[in-house]
Amino acid sequence: MRHLASFLSSLLLVLCLAVSAQAASANGVLLVAFGTSMDSAKPALDDIGNAYAKAYPDTPIVWAYTSDIIRNKLAREGTRVFSVREALDECARLGIVNLRVQSLHLMPAEEYTMMQRLLVRDLSLKPGRFDHVWLGVPLLESRQDLNDVMDAVFASFPRERKADEAVVLMGHGNNRGPADLAIACVATALNEKDPLVYLAAVEGANSFDSVLAALREKKVKKVYLQPFMIVAGDHARNDLAGAEEDSWASQLKAAGMEVEANLTGLGSNPGVQKVFLRHTADTKDDLAHPKKAD
Ligand code: CO
Repeated sequence: MRHLASFLSSLLLVLCLAVSAQAASANGVLLVAFGTSMDSAKPALDDIGNAYAKAYPDTPIVWAYTSDIIRNKLAREGTRVFSVREALDECARLGIVNLRVQSLHLMPAEEYTMMQRLLVRDLSLKPGRFDHVWLGVPLLESRQDLNDVMDAVFASFPRERKADEAVVLMGHGNNRGPADLAIACVATALNEKDPLVYLAAVEGANSFDSVLAALREKKVKKVYLQPFMIVAGDHARNDLAGAEEDSWASQLKAAGMEVEANLTGLGSNPGVQKVFLRHTADTKDDLAHPKKAD
């Protein structure tokens, strides 16, 4: 009898553990970044991952990259990173039913739109796998985001910067989609807050030329360079701070300015991580149960 009682109590314990493990794994987070293939740029994504691990303890966190080029390159080097579709399969395999998807893109532009399409297509091709798929919007989506990101970026400027020294940030830009509009908006806001802080983009409409002209006109002697991208990858290391003649650093030096580069991706910035976490926590946008528009 005693044996039976102890057997039953241990059986109960095992069942409880199984149920709590099931409950814990029912929630999950999927982080979707553009991605990077550079080891030196990866810490920015790892830092975001660590912030999420802290905010969502005992919750599986799955990663996906939207860039095919980067995933293929990593695969050739022996590192597998999920696409959005593969990551959703993995989430389902882990038993996640309440999924929070967070876009780690900078703005709701081309990569984010593509990610949304992939999510919606997968949900309609394989219905019933998830009870909820809450989608967190990218970094810059509202006025509040802009204010928070500006504070975070200003907090990252070097302490030793003097009042007459400039900061130039490099965004990506894209002449397709709304990226260039978002960059222009952030550039104006930054420059209104501090007339010696500039944002230009390596691609698209917001070119560096007008920033260089403005710095020349203001007779700026020293410029701090930083990427305005989630990771400090190829663009930051080459187009921004590289030794080639056409890098922003080289052009500034050729114009007689002293240059110092801080190659840290926005992903490592705690204020930026906070905005992503807010978007993940706040979202009411459930792709599994979209609100009826009709
Ligand atoms: Co690029």
